[in-house]
Amino acid sequence: MLNLIDRALKSPLAQVLTWPHRAETYLEFLAPRVGGTAIKASIKAAHQETDRAVSLVLEPNHRWSAHVPGQYVPFTVAINGRRYTRCFTISGVEAGCPVVTIQAHDGGIVSRWANETVWSGDIVELGAPAGDFVLPADRSAPFLFIAGGSGITPVRALVDQLVAEGHAGKVDILYYVPSSPEAIFLGHLKQIEATCPNVKLHLVVTRGKETGSLSGHFSEAHLKATGCDISAARAFVCGPTGLISAVENHWSNAGQYERLTLERFQAVTLPVVVDGGEGQPIRFADSAVTSTAPANRTILDTAEAAGLTPNTGCRQGICRTCTCRKLAGQVRDIRTGELSGDGEEDIAICVSVPVTPVTIEL
Ligand code: FES
Repeated sequence: MLNLIDRALKSPLAQVLTWPHRAETYLEFLAPRVGGTAIKASIKAAHQETDRAVSLVLEPNHRWSAHVPGQYVPFTVAINGRRYTRCFTISGVEAGCPVVTIQAHDGGIVSRWANETVWSGDIVELGAPAGDFVLPADRSAPFLFIAGGSGITPVRALVDQLVAEGHAGKVDILYYVPSSPEAIFLGHLKQIEATCPNVKLHLVVTRGKETGSLSGHFSEAHLKATGCDISAARAFVCGPTGLISAVENHWSNAGQYERLTLERFQAVTLPVVVDGGEGQPIRFADSAVTSTAPANRTILDTAEAAGLTPNTGCRQGICRTCTCRKLAGQVRDIRTGELSGDGEEDIAICVSVPVTPVTIEL
């Protein structure tokens, strides 16, 4: 039915009748979730998970397509007249609707909006689900999931998938939180543990000690507590950079790196070396503004410092919201250290530092 509406709105007759605006513009105004060409969703419900984390149940329009458990979705919301895009994991599905779980953090504009001011019926825009943090086709190996803080969100999706499939193999969840009240989905995971003898939750508190929990940061002792043989298990890790680095090092030193799947929540901060150690001039062609980027400053930061307002989202090179056309010049990707070519191409300006004078279509 909605595809028919789409076709009708795009018909020449509809475009003539609604001139000077597109027919879709009127529908977007009258029915914000359905109108337009984007994947939109209304907030159907919000469930408080902890003092600082909330799950939002999203009711998307007909343009939404199914996701694979473990994937994330680009999520755009207008706050005080400005659009912000972030990527959030789809932590589950409730009555056919995708759910994202968002933990508030200081200075997090979208995460604080979700936890403090969201209203039922608010409209958000979604991108297509993406990400490779998904279960392998071969599920014969034991699974070890390691999560820190809100890194539990994709882990929950994967564990729920295994439980729904009736998976009988060994599943261990090593979950790091400052203290147990901050553990998202704790009740849900304990319930799974109580009903599925093959699933074991190992809660680790990183601040102080709690009865019945392990304590401290990732260590060999915690791995031993799970009883997992990392040369046999498929391991997944998601969480803050410190946890991921510790796990990566451990698996790498053990020669088992290929058995590890990881998902970062924070950008890796790489030491960036700018040729000559000097800032480079950036010409923002559409705005007729030229500004010199201080050494090691991204093009996005430089644009904002010059008073421009490019679209931004994750600011970590994940969501591609900030993508701009580079017309000339060479940039370095701060995540990988890779140099671009010196011709025209699309770049994510939030993770690009100029190494020669550059011209950006902005
Ligand atoms: S803001 Fe997300 S990739 Fe740049």
